[in-house]
Amino acid sequence: MSAQGPAPRKRLLAPDITAKKGREQIVSLTSYHAHTAAIADKYCDFLLVGDSLGMVMHGYETTVPVPLELMVMHGRAVVRGARRALVVVDMPFGTYEESPSVAFRNAARVMKETDCGAVKLEGGRRMAETIRFLVDRGIPVMAHIGLTPQSINTLGGFKSQGHTREQWDRIEEDARLVAEAGAFAVVLEAMAEPLARRITAAIRIPTIGIGAGAGCDGQILVMEDMLGLSPRVPKFVKEFGAVGAAIEGAIKGYAEEVRAGTFPAPEHTYALRPEGQEALRPEGQEALRPEGQDLLRPAGQDLLRPEGQEALHPEGQHGARAKTAPAAAPPAAVEALSASARATKKTKNPTS
Ligand code: KIV
Repeated sequence: MSAQGPAPRKRLLAPDITAKKGREQIVSLTSYHAHTAAIADKYCDFLLVGDSLGMVMHGYETTVPVPLELMVMHGRAVVRGARRALVVVDMPFGTYEESPSVAFRNAARVMKETDCGAVKLEGGRRMAETIRFLVDRGIPVMAHIGLTPQSINTLGGFKSQGHTREQWDRIEEDARLVAEAGAFAVVLEAMAEPLARRITAAIRIPTIGIGAGAGCDGQILVMEDMLGLSPRVPKFVKEFGAVGAAIEGAIKGYAEEVRAGTFPAPEHTYALRPEGQEALRPEGQEALRPEGQDLLRPAGQDLLRPEGQEALHPEGQHGARAKTAPAAAPPAAVEALSASARATKKTKNPTS
């Protein structure tokens, strides 16, 4: 037992995910930002910073336009938010298909700049050589076959896969080749359930299904879809929450209260502290009379603050409306006030 409290929880690595095959179902979600990553981290084995963030967070119609910089930025946020789950970052369209060395350069950048534990790329047979090249050089790769959204323009739309004998054979071969190339897991997206079940039985790495049925080694969903936040969801999504409706209810309530003048209420408002009141009273002057107390309300703070001077104490800065002409405080009181503010700043949490 350490004198500094419990040791930080160990983060899962790609081989830990592979080792779960046949032992337990693997749970995962997409995540694009730190706060939701911190919540999902408690329940998920890995979090995918999917390039679906282009559509969900940034309003693109497909994932094709997503730039690498966006993946790096959101990847960093998720790594900061999650402590235990493996974080996997998607390689966006155009950053890995050209050659194994281009893929290595961009994947290494993602790993170095985000501190994630693995990358994901789309494609089966055509990406096998690249997967081997990256894995041999220290970059764990999750593969992604079936419906590959980055190929929407050649696939002809977001269509489920594996309904014909010809497609069936090709997808099964894709799974075998990415596993042999060294991928630590493979996403099976939107494919006929019996095909996914058969692939799962045939390969040694875990299959992570999204719209591929219950026969996979694990499941992933886009977090906003399962939360009930996305305006439209595919058939395979179950909405486990109604977050969109909850957000709308909260925003409606806020707008109504601001318009009615009932928010902010006194409990959301910073008052002057006793030491600030003391400092405001010039030497020899009596304590503020009841009517003078008016000046202690937030609006009154402005009246008591000499032009250009900062808020009375750090808390006051939140609500500070600067530069209202002073009338009441003579230079001695201002000096005392500044000293008090400096002392308070050193010792208090500015948001308390
Ligand atoms: O980008 C993404 O969110 C994904 C999942 C759908 C697997 O690739």
